Amino acid sequence: MKRIGLLTSGGDCQALNATMRGVVKGLSHNCKDLEIYGFFEGYKGLIYGNYRLLTSADFSGILTKGGTIIGSSRQPFKLMRVPDAKGLDKVEAMKQNYYKLNLDCLVILGGNGTQKTANMLREEGLNIIHLPKTIDNDISGTDLTFGYQSAIDIATTAIDQIHTTASSHGRVFIVEVMGHKVGWLTLSAGVASGADIILLPEIPYDLKKVCAAIDKRHKSGKKFTILAVAEGAIPKEIAKLDKKEQKKEMAKITDRYPSISFKLAADITKNTGYEVRVTVPGHVQRGGSPDPFDRVLSTKLGVYAAQCIMKDQYGIMVGIVNNEIKKIPLEKSAGKLKMVDPKDQTVQLAKYMGISFGD
Ligand code: F6P
Repeated sequence: MKRIGLLTSGGDCQALNATMRGVVKGLSHNCKDLEIYGFFEGYKGLIYGNYRLLTSADFSGILTKGGTIIGSSRQPFKLMRVPDAKGLDKVEAMKQNYYKLNLDCLVILGGNGTQKTANMLREEGLNIIHLPKTIDNDISGTDLTFGYQSAIDIATTAIDQIHTTASSHGRVFIVEVMGHKVGWLTLSAGVASGADIILLPEIPYDLKKVCAAIDKRHKSGKKFTILAVAEGAIPKEIAKLDKKEQKKEMAKITDRYPSISFKLAADITKNTGYEVRVTVPGHVQRGGSPDPFDRVLSTKLGVYAAQCIMKDQYGIMVGIVNNEIKKIPLEKSAGKLKMVDPKDQTVQLAKYMGISFGD
Protein backbone atom coordinates (compact mmCIF):
# COMPACT_ATOMS: atom_id res chain seq x y z
CA MET A 1 0.00 0.00 0.00
CA LYS A 2 1.32 3.44 -0.94
CA ARG A 3 -0.32 6.80 -0.29
CA ILE A 4 1.24 9.54 -2.36
CA GLY A 5 0.69 13.29 -2.40
CA LEU A 6 1.43 15.08 -5.66
CA LEU A 7 1.82 18.79 -6.36
CA THR A 8 3.16 21.09 -9.06
CA SER A 9 4.36 24.48 -7.89
CA GLY A 10 5.83 27.70 -9.33
CA GLY A 11 5.79 28.81 -12.98
CA ASP A 12 4.51 25.98 -15.14
CA CYS A 13 6.34 24.44 -18.08
CA GLN A 14 5.99 21.66 -20.60
CA ALA A 15 6.19 18.02 -19.38
CA LEU A 16 4.73 18.52 -15.89
CA ASN A 17 1.90 16.17 -16.85
CA ALA A 18 4.28 13.79 -18.60
CA THR A 19 6.38 13.56 -15.42
CA MET A 20 3.37 12.91 -13.16
CA ARG A 21 2.20 10.29 -15.63
CA GLY A 22 5.60 8.58 -15.34
CA VAL A 23 5.36 8.54 -11.53
CA VAL A 24 1.80 7.20 -11.49
CA LYS A 25 2.26 4.62 -14.25
CA GLY A 26 5.47 3.41 -12.61
CA LEU A 27 3.67 3.01 -9.30
CA SER A 28 0.39 1.57 -10.50
CA HIS A 29 2.25 -1.04 -12.53
CA ASN A 30 4.13 -2.24 -9.47
CA CYS A 31 1.97 -1.49 -6.47
CA LYS A 32 -1.43 -3.15 -6.02
CA ASP A 33 -2.80 -0.73 -3.48
CA LEU A 34 -2.20 2.85 -4.46
CA GLU A 35 -3.77 6.13 -3.38
CA ILE A 36 -2.78 9.35 -5.12
CA TYR A 37 -3.80 12.68 -3.66
CA GLY A 38 -3.43 15.61 -6.02
CA PHE A 39 -3.03 18.96 -4.22
CA PHE A 40 -4.37 21.81 -6.32
CA GLU A 41 -2.38 24.94 -7.23
CA GLY A 42 0.87 23.82 -5.68
CA TYR A 43 1.64 24.45 -2.01
CA LYS A 44 -1.62 26.41 -1.74
CA GLY A 45 -3.50 23.10 -1.98
CA LEU A 46 -1.29 21.51 0.66
CA ILE A 47 -1.65 24.48 3.02
CA TYR A 48 -5.42 24.83 2.71
CA GLY A 49 -6.26 21.15 2.26
CA ASN A 50 -7.49 21.56 -1.29
CA TYR A 51 -6.92 18.10 -2.75
CA ARG A 52 -8.66 15.25 -4.50
CA LEU A 53 -8.13 11.51 -4.57
CA LEU A 54 -7.04 10.77 -8.13
CA THR A 55 -6.92 7.50 -10.00
CA SER A 56 -4.45 6.22 -12.58
CA ALA A 57 -7.09 7.04 -15.21
CA ASP A 58 -6.56 10.74 -14.42
CA PHE A 59 -2.97 10.37 -15.60
CA SER A 60 -3.78 8.58 -18.80
CA GLY A 61 -3.64 10.48 -22.10
CA ILE A 62 -1.67 13.41 -20.65
CA LEU A 63 1.82 12.68 -22.01
CA THR A 64 1.56 15.37 -24.66
CA LYS A 65 -0.62 17.80 -22.74
CA GLY A 66 1.00 21.10 -21.71
CA GLY A 67 0.44 22.83 -18.36
CA THR A 68 -0.49 20.80 -15.28
CA ILE A 69 -3.73 18.96 -14.62
CA ILE A 70 -3.53 19.86 -10.91
CA GLY A 71 -2.71 23.55 -11.41
CA SER A 72 0.15 25.60 -10.04
CA SER A 73 0.80 28.85 -8.20
CA ARG A 74 3.74 30.81 -6.90
CA GLN A 75 4.10 30.57 -3.12
CA PRO A 76 7.39 32.35 -2.33
CA PHE A 77 9.71 30.40 -0.04
CA LYS A 78 10.51 33.53 1.98
CA LEU A 79 6.84 33.84 2.95
CA MET A 80 6.38 30.22 3.99
CA ARG A 81 7.29 30.96 7.62
CA VAL A 82 5.11 34.08 7.62
CA PRO A 83 1.53 33.38 8.81
CA ASP A 84 -1.21 34.08 6.26
CA ALA A 85 -3.74 36.95 6.55
CA LYS A 86 -5.79 34.90 9.05
CA GLY A 87 -2.73 34.00 11.14
CA LEU A 88 -2.44 30.44 9.82
CA ASP A 89 0.98 28.82 10.26
CA LYS A 90 1.53 27.55 6.69
CA VAL A 91 4.25 25.05 7.53
CA GLU A 92 2.22 23.51 10.35
CA ALA A 93 -0.84 23.41 8.07
CA MET A 94 1.12 21.55 5.37
CA LYS A 95 2.38 19.04 7.92
CA GLN A 96 -1.09 18.50 9.35
CA ASN A 97 -2.57 17.79 5.92
CA TYR A 98 0.27 15.38 5.17
CA TYR A 99 -0.27 13.48 8.44
CA LYS A 100 -4.05 13.63 8.21
CA LEU A 101 -3.92 11.75 4.91
CA ASN A 102 -1.29 9.39 6.31
CA LEU A 103 0.91 9.94 3.26
CA ASP A 104 4.00 7.85 2.57
CA CYS A 105 5.52 10.77 0.71
CA LEU A 106 4.99 13.99 -1.21
CA VAL A 107 6.14 14.16 -4.83
CA ILE A 108 6.85 17.80 -5.60
CA LEU A 109 7.43 19.10 -9.11
CA GLY A 110 8.95 22.54 -9.26
CA GLY A 111 11.88 24.89 -9.72
CA ASN A 112 14.29 26.57 -7.31
CA GLY A 113 11.82 28.24 -4.96
CA THR A 114 9.65 25.14 -4.84
CA GLN A 115 12.70 23.05 -4.09
CA LYS A 116 13.66 25.26 -1.12
CA THR A 117 10.24 24.69 0.44
CA ALA A 118 10.49 20.97 -0.39
CA ASN A 119 13.78 20.83 1.48
CA MET A 120 12.28 22.70 4.42
CA LEU A 121 9.46 20.14 4.57
CA ARG A 122 12.12 17.40 4.51
CA GLU A 123 13.82 19.10 7.47
CA GLU A 124 10.42 19.14 9.18
CA GLY A 125 10.32 15.36 8.88
CA LEU A 126 8.18 14.75 5.77
CA ASN A 127 9.17 12.23 3.11
CA ILE A 128 9.89 14.21 -0.03
CA ILE A 129 10.81 13.51 -3.63
CA HIS A 130 11.50 16.55 -5.78
CA LEU A 131 11.38 16.48 -9.57
CA PRO A 132 13.19 19.35 -11.33
CA LYS A 133 10.98 21.39 -13.64
CA THR A 134 11.84 24.69 -15.27
CA ILE A 135 12.50 26.15 -18.67
CA ASP A 136 15.43 27.97 -17.02
CA ASN A 137 17.52 24.80 -16.44
CA ASP A 138 18.97 26.46 -13.37
CA ILE A 139 18.61 23.72 -10.75
CA SER A 140 21.89 22.68 -9.24
CA GLY A 141 22.76 18.96 -9.14
CA THR A 142 20.99 17.97 -12.36
CA ASP A 143 22.37 18.51 -15.84
CA LEU A 144 18.88 19.13 -17.20
CA THR A 145 15.42 20.07 -16.04
CA PHE A 146 12.27 19.09 -17.90
CA GLY A 147 10.70 21.94 -19.86
CA TYR A 148 14.07 23.36 -20.87
CA GLN A 149 14.42 21.57 -24.22
CA SER A 150 10.83 22.33 -25.22
CA ALA A 151 11.38 26.01 -24.42
CA ILE A 152 14.61 25.99 -26.46
CA ASP A 153 12.57 24.71 -29.42
CA ILE A 154 10.05 27.54 -29.07
CA ALA A 155 12.58 30.33 -28.50
CA THR A 156 14.66 29.04 -31.42
CA THR A 157 11.63 28.99 -33.70
CA ALA A 158 10.81 32.56 -32.64
CA ILE A 159 14.31 33.74 -33.55
CA ASP A 160 14.24 31.75 -36.82
CA GLN A 161 11.02 33.54 -37.79
CA ILE A 162 12.55 36.90 -36.99
CA HIS A 163 15.55 36.10 -39.20
CA THR A 164 13.55 36.30 -42.41
CA THR A 165 11.82 39.58 -41.63
CA ALA A 166 15.03 41.11 -40.24
CA SER A 167 16.81 40.23 -43.44
CA SER A 168 14.02 41.60 -45.70
CA HIS A 169 14.03 44.95 -43.92
CA GLY A 170 17.69 45.19 -43.02
CA ARG A 171 16.83 45.82 -39.40
CA VAL A 172 18.38 45.12 -36.04
CA PHE A 173 16.12 42.80 -34.06
CA ILE A 174 16.16 41.95 -30.38
CA VAL A 175 14.38 38.76 -29.31
CA GLU A 176 13.93 38.69 -25.55
CA VAL A 177 14.18 35.18 -24.14
CA MET A 178 12.90 34.14 -20.69
CA GLY A 179 15.35 33.92 -17.80
CA HIS A 180 15.67 36.65 -15.17
CA LYS A 181 18.60 35.21 -13.30
CA VAL A 182 20.20 32.68 -15.63
CA GLY A 183 20.85 32.56 -19.34
CA TRP A 184 20.85 28.86 -20.31
CA LEU A 185 17.74 29.22 -22.44
CA THR A 186 19.01 32.34 -24.19
CA LEU A 187 22.42 30.78 -24.76
CA SER A 188 21.00 27.60 -26.30
CA ALA A 189 18.30 29.29 -28.37
CA GLY A 190 20.76 31.98 -29.46
CA VAL A 191 23.32 29.48 -30.73
CA ALA A 192 20.62 27.22 -32.24
CA SER A 193 19.15 30.09 -34.24
CA GLY A 194 22.39 31.71 -35.33
CA ALA A 195 21.95 34.91 -33.31
CA ASP A 196 24.79 37.39 -33.83
CA ILE A 197 24.80 38.79 -30.32
CA ILE A 198 23.79 36.91 -27.15
CA LEU A 199 23.32 38.80 -23.88
CA LEU A 200 23.05 36.85 -20.62
CA PRO A 201 22.51 37.87 -16.99
CA GLU A 202 25.82 36.19 -16.11
CA ILE A 203 27.83 38.25 -18.62
CA PRO A 204 27.05 41.95 -18.11
CA TYR A 205 27.11 43.85 -21.39
CA ASP A 206 28.96 46.93 -22.49
CA LEU A 207 26.72 49.00 -24.76
CA LYS A 208 29.73 50.20 -26.75
CA LYS A 209 30.76 46.61 -27.47
CA VAL A 210 27.22 45.70 -28.53
CA CYS A 211 27.07 48.68 -30.91
CA ALA A 212 30.56 47.90 -32.24
CA ALA A 213 29.49 44.30 -32.98
CA ILE A 214 26.46 45.55 -34.93
CA ASP A 215 28.60 48.10 -36.83
CA LYS A 216 31.21 45.49 -37.69
CA ARG A 217 28.54 43.22 -39.16
CA HIS A 218 26.96 45.99 -41.18
CA LYS A 219 30.33 47.18 -42.47
CA SER A 220 31.10 43.64 -43.60
CA GLY A 221 28.04 43.82 -45.85
CA LYS A 222 25.41 42.16 -43.62
CA LYS A 223 22.28 44.23 -43.57
CA PHE A 224 20.67 42.91 -40.41
CA THR A 225 21.63 41.78 -36.91
CA ILE A 226 19.83 39.51 -34.48
CA LEU A 227 20.30 39.80 -30.73
CA ALA A 228 19.09 37.08 -28.35
CA VAL A 229 18.71 38.92 -25.06
CA ALA A 230 17.80 37.30 -21.73
CA GLU A 231 15.12 39.00 -19.61
CA GLY A 232 17.79 39.46 -16.97
CA ALA A 233 20.52 40.93 -19.21
CA ILE A 234 22.29 43.69 -17.34
CA PRO A 235 24.49 46.61 -18.41
CA LYS A 236 27.98 46.32 -16.95
CA GLU A 237 27.86 49.66 -15.15
CA ILE A 238 24.81 48.45 -13.21
CA ALA A 239 26.24 44.98 -12.58
CA LYS A 240 29.17 46.64 -10.77
CA LEU A 241 26.88 48.05 -8.07
CA ASP A 242 25.89 46.20 -4.92
CA LYS A 243 22.66 44.19 -5.09
CA LYS A 244 20.48 46.91 -3.54
CA GLU A 245 21.74 49.61 -5.91
CA GLN A 246 21.44 47.21 -8.86
CA LYS A 247 17.78 46.66 -8.03
CA LYS A 248 17.19 50.40 -7.81
CA GLU A 249 18.85 51.10 -11.16
CA MET A 250 17.06 48.23 -12.90
CA ALA A 251 13.76 49.47 -11.45
CA LYS A 252 14.43 52.88 -13.00
CA ILE A 253 14.75 51.13 -16.38
CA THR A 254 11.59 49.09 -15.98
CA ASP A 255 9.69 52.19 -14.80
CA ARG A 256 10.41 53.73 -18.18
CA TYR A 257 10.55 50.71 -20.51
CA PRO A 258 8.60 47.43 -20.57
CA SER A 259 11.88 45.53 -20.12
CA ILE A 260 15.64 45.79 -20.54
CA SER A 261 15.37 44.89 -24.24
CA PHE A 262 13.43 48.06 -25.01
CA LYS A 263 15.99 50.21 -23.19
CA LEU A 264 18.76 48.45 -25.11
CA ALA A 265 16.92 49.02 -28.39
CA ALA A 266 16.64 52.76 -27.63
CA ASP A 267 20.33 52.90 -26.68
CA ILE A 268 21.41 51.11 -29.87
CA THR A 269 19.36 53.47 -32.05
CA LYS A 270 20.76 56.50 -30.21
CA ASN A 271 24.34 55.31 -30.65
CA THR A 272 24.25 53.83 -34.15
CA GLY A 273 21.21 55.28 -35.89
CA TYR A 274 20.01 51.76 -36.80
CA GLU A 275 16.32 50.95 -36.62
CA VAL A 276 15.74 48.36 -33.89
CA ARG A 277 12.66 46.20 -33.26
CA VAL A 278 11.96 44.12 -30.15
CA THR A 279 10.06 40.83 -30.05
CA VAL A 280 9.10 39.21 -26.74
CA PRO A 281 7.80 35.64 -27.07
CA GLY A 282 7.21 35.62 -23.27
CA HIS A 283 5.06 32.85 -21.81
CA VAL A 284 4.67 31.24 -25.22
CA GLN A 285 8.02 29.68 -24.30
CA ARG A 286 6.40 27.78 -21.44
CA GLY A 287 3.29 26.70 -23.27
CA GLY A 288 2.07 23.78 -25.31
CA SER A 289 3.13 20.21 -25.71
CA PRO A 290 6.53 18.95 -24.51
CA ASP A 291 8.95 18.06 -27.28
CA PRO A 292 10.03 14.41 -27.72
CA PHE A 293 13.25 14.96 -25.74
CA ASP A 294 11.31 16.28 -22.74
CA ARG A 295 8.74 13.48 -23.03
CA VAL A 296 11.51 10.92 -22.72
CA LEU A 297 13.36 12.79 -19.96
CA SER A 298 10.25 13.42 -17.87
CA THR A 299 9.03 9.84 -18.27
CA LYS A 300 12.39 8.53 -17.07
CA LEU A 301 12.51 10.95 -14.13
CA GLY A 302 8.94 10.10 -13.15
CA VAL A 303 9.36 6.34 -13.36
CA TYR A 304 12.65 6.52 -11.44
CA ALA A 305 10.82 8.49 -8.74
CA ALA A 306 8.25 5.66 -8.62
CA GLN A 307 11.10 3.18 -8.10
CA CYS A 308 12.43 5.30 -5.24
CA ILE A 309 8.98 5.38 -3.64
CA MET A 310 8.73 1.59 -3.89
CA LYS A 311 12.06 1.40 -2.03
CA ASP A 312 11.09 4.11 0.48
CA GLN A 313 13.95 6.34 -0.64
CA TYR A 314 13.12 9.92 0.21
CA GLY A 315 14.74 13.30 0.87
CA ILE A 316 15.96 13.42 -2.71
CA MET A 317 15.69 15.16 -6.06
CA VAL A 318 15.59 12.84 -9.06
CA GLY A 319 17.81 14.36 -11.73
CA ILE A 320 20.03 13.46 -14.65
CA VAL A 321 23.82 13.50 -14.44
CA ASN A 322 26.03 12.47 -17.36
CA ASN A 323 23.00 10.96 -19.07
CA GLU A 324 22.09 8.80 -16.11
CA ILE A 325 18.96 9.28 -13.97
CA LYS A 326 20.05 9.60 -10.36
CA LYS A 327 19.05 10.46 -6.81
CA ILE A 328 20.54 13.69 -5.53
CA PRO A 329 20.22 14.52 -1.82
CA LEU A 330 17.81 17.45 -1.57
CA GLU A 331 20.00 19.35 0.87
CA LYS A 332 22.85 19.29 -1.66
CA SER A 333 20.79 20.87 -4.40
CA ALA A 334 18.36 23.21 -2.60
CA GLY A 335 19.11 26.91 -2.52
CA LYS A 336 21.78 26.86 -5.22
CA LEU A 337 21.34 28.34 -8.69
CA LYS A 338 23.08 26.66 -11.61
CA MET A 339 24.27 29.66 -13.62
CA VAL A 340 26.09 29.95 -16.93
CA ASP A 341 29.81 30.16 -16.29
CA PRO A 342 31.28 32.81 -18.61
CA LYS A 343 34.00 30.23 -19.27
CA ASP A 344 31.39 27.64 -20.30
CA GLN A 345 32.49 25.77 -23.43
CA THR A 346 29.40 26.78 -25.42
CA VAL A 347 30.10 30.45 -24.65
CA GLN A 348 33.77 30.09 -25.57
CA LEU A 349 33.09 28.25 -28.83
CA ALA A 350 30.39 30.75 -29.75
CA LYS A 351 32.83 33.60 -29.16
CA TYR A 352 35.45 31.82 -31.27
CA MET A 353 33.08 31.87 -34.23
CA GLY A 354 32.41 35.58 -33.79
CA ILE A 355 29.23 35.69 -31.71
CA SER A 356 29.40 38.71 -29.41
CA PHE A 357 28.37 38.48 -25.75
CA GLY A 358 28.74 42.23 -25.40
CA ASP A 359 31.68 41.89 -22.98
O1 F6P B 1 11.05 30.35 -13.90
C1 F6P B 1 10.45 30.22 -15.14
C2 F6P B 1 10.14 31.56 -15.73
O2 F6P B 1 9.43 31.34 -16.92
C3 F6P B 1 11.32 32.49 -15.96
O3 F6P B 1 12.06 32.18 -17.11
C4 F6P B 1 10.62 33.81 -16.04
O4 F6P B 1 11.52 34.84 -15.77
C5 F6P B 1 9.55 33.69 -14.99
O5 F6P B 1 9.29 32.31 -14.88
C6 F6P B 1 8.26 34.40 -15.30
O6 F6P B 1 7.42 34.28 -14.19
P1 F6P B 1 5.85 34.51 -14.18
O7 F6P B 1 5.22 33.39 -14.95
O8 F6P B 1 5.48 34.49 -12.75
O9 F6P B 1 5.62 35.81 -14.88
